[in-house]
Amino acid sequence: MAQLIGGLATSHIPAIGGAIHKGKQNEPYWKPFFDGFPPIHDWLGKVKPDVVVVFYNDHGLNFFLDKMPTFAVGAAATYSNADEGWGIPTLPPIPGCPELSWHIINQLIAKEFDIVTCQEMLVDHACTLPLKLFWPEHEVAPVQIVPIDINTVQFPLPTAKRVYKLGKAVGEAIQSWDSDKRVAVMATGGLSHQLEGERAGFINKKFDLQFLDSMETNPEWATQFSDLELVEKAGTQGVELLMWLAMRAALTAGGSGVRKVHSNYHIPISNTATGVLALETV
Ligand code: DHB
Ligand code: FE
Repeated sequence: MAQLIGGLATSHIPAIGGAIHKGKQNEPYWKPFFDGFPPIHDWLGKVKPDVVVVFYNDHGLNFFLDKMPTFAVGAAATYSNADEGWGIPTLPPIPGCPELSWHIINQLIAKEFDIVTCQEMLVDHACTLPLKLFWPEHEVAPVQIVPIDINTVQFPLPTAKRVYKLGKAVGEAIQSWDSDKRVAVMATGGLSHQLEGERAGFINKKFDLQFLDSMETNPEWATQFSDLELVEKAGTQGVELLMWLAMRAALTAGGSGVRKVHSNYHIPISNTATGVLALETV
């Protein structure tokens, strides 16, 4: 059976793509953010995942407001990136893993998750930047991906409880995949941020640190909150932390525990409180 080796999570702010492109990683503004990654690069160099299941939220590149699935699973052989207007370079196509995609899709439907399946899917900065951050030496990360999109863009959003159940079901599907591949789960988005309206620039360090701590010690902690409570506490875009919850729930599959490999928290990059985390299953 496939091995679920651990989980990764990072913020996905478009400006990071510009900083990478211009080689600004050691400038004072960027260094405290990029310094969060080398211990995770070392770990990835050791555990070498073959496939990464990426929980992310599309921001209007593949799905727009007229057609907005709550959960969508990619089932393509490759995923293309395209210009979103942020002024950052696009990435070459990223290889998919249709075998794992279809296994996850079959398992999720059997467990009564009414997902959308996508044999074509453009992936935006929320998928491409984390791959660049975790595998900076590579033009395209040396992994196959299965992108899973969770709507955090247009209300109504799925509840934290539902996202947790989805993540757990995805973890169980990975563990029941008849393959010798090593699989990691990844979350992208958050932590607290709000890009528009009266609270633009809103950041909640106290909540973010509680949330980060819960990833290690109490994975279900955030499921106590409604989506509106999460928006209140983390901001209209901070609700992207639902991806982290799905990633963490996947790691509970089969009764696994986790060991923290590394984490970092830095305020702000652009309008966002940034977090990065790597957890190893034990
Ligand atoms: C920013 C953050 C995001 O999560 C995003 O998708 C776009 C922009 C920002 O802080 O600039
Ligand atoms: Fe975002």
